[in-house]
Amino acid sequence: MSLNIIILAAGRGTRMKSQLPKVLHPVAGKPMLRWIAETAITLNPKAIYPVIGFGAAQVRAQLNDLSVECVEQTEQLGTGHAVQQVLPLLDANDQVLVLVGDNPLISEATLTRLIDVTPKDGVGLLTVSLDNPTGLGRIIRDAKGQAVEIVEEKDASTAQRAITEINAGIYVFAVADLQRWLPNLKSHNQQGELYLTDVIAMAVAEGKTINTTHPDQEQEIWSVNDRVQLARLERYRQEQMANEIMLQGVTLHDPKRFDLRGELNVGQDVVIDVNVIIEGKVSLGNYVSIGPNVILKNVTIGDNTIIKSNCDIEDAIIAEQCEVGPFARLRPGTHLAKGAKVGNFVETKKANIGAGSKVSHLTYLGDAEIGKGVNIGAGTITCNYDGMNKFTTTIKDGAFIGSNSSLVAPVTIGKDATIGAGSTINKDAPDSELTLARTKQTTIKGWQRPKKKD
Ligand code: UD1
Ligand code: CA
Repeated sequence: MSLNIIILAAGRGTRMKSQLPKVLHPVAGKPMLRWIAETAITLNPKAIYPVIGFGAAQVRAQLNDLSVECVEQTEQLGTGHAVQQVLPLLDANDQVLVLVGDNPLISEATLTRLIDVTPKDGVGLLTVSLDNPTGLGRIIRDAKGQAVEIVEEKDASTAQRAITEINAGIYVFAVADLQRWLPNLKSHNQQGELYLTDVIAMAVAEGKTINTTHPDQEQEIWSVNDRVQLARLERYRQEQMANEIMLQGVTLHDPKRFDLRGELNVGQDVVIDVNVIIEGKVSLGNYVSIGPNVILKNVTIGDNTIIKSNCDIEDAIIAEQCEVGPFARLRPGTHLAKGAKVGNFVETKKANIGAGSKVSHLTYLGDAEIGKGVNIGAGTITCNYDGMNKFTTTIKDGAFIGSNSSLVAPVTIGKDATIGAGSTINKDAPDSELTLARTKQTTIKGWQRPKKKD
């Protein structure tokens, strides 16, 4: 007997009022369905079957690197109908864990406990009491306290609506039982759907016990049906992650103004100021300081580096002891070697900047190979694009580029070369010499400013 997992994710999520399928709305930068699929994988099941329907191609694409087998439910006739779509693929001797695609924070520990409390031929049901159970299925218990039925809110009596114990939408069943029960579901309810929840009463009618357990944290079963619930879940998840990071030795000046939408690896004594957004995979070394209003996406930063305020950095590697910003934009393919400095209003793209080199102000460096100890003056532009193709600018160790220079690529500036300010350089400049390319300054003696005509 093995465990299979079904994830119900075919619904449109009408209450989201969105073209994007509900289960693809991100929480902390990751589609809700991926959170659940990744948790499902940690349980090592025989197979995982997401049931998809609305936006199927889009949903499939978001899961294509995971070992799951999507099953299409072309018409969304209800949660019971959704599970029916998978039934032909399952072995009658197996067990199945059913998950919903819209509660991304469900934990491995809670799911493991639900599986553990359910005998191989029994039914397991995850429930929790909520202060506000609005919108959810209510758990009806008999005089002995046994769960006997689930009633959807829309079908519930006033007395039933007062019940605060709700159905999380997560169950364990024996496949053989579902094979018997699902064909008997009826859509005689307010929504005209085939409700999976109705199999609970069928199980009880056969004399089976419903084994219930609860999540470790109530928030694990928070589901997202509209964008208000999405925002509430996002804030909760952000708070959880901020706490984890602080406990790893990071100072967050305000954990409520920190957003992690990916993975963050941190060294010790990292300080992160307010309104920092971390996306993708980011790694920060020891003693790294991140100023306010910084966005880091897929970035590795070495020890003791300082990122000042308002920088936008993507797909970049920054070594130790560097200084970046304020207001620097480091685009994909930027690599700063040890001790390099990039100052305000500098944009870089596919640029290797060597150890100790400085690019202090107002500069664009694209497709640039820059050696060690280079000084790039304010207003330097690498002209890397002729409208069709990109070309490389190479600047060797120790070169000094005067302010307001245009370097027309492909071009090489030699070792220890100096470029005079205001030059447009389109031929290679030799090592150790001063190269200038500008018209000579002249003075027109006795020249008069024009006078206004009457
Ligand atoms: C469902 C439960 C409810 C429970 C709640 C927990 C039923 C009838 N009700 O209600 O008791 O308290 O979840 O969150 O099951 N889906 C499909 N195909 C369909 C319909 C839905 O795949 O035909 C998927 C949806 O994409 C969603 C999940 O099933 O991920 C649950 O559907 P949803 O419409 O959100 O059910 P609720 O009304 O929240
Ligand atoms: Ca729901």
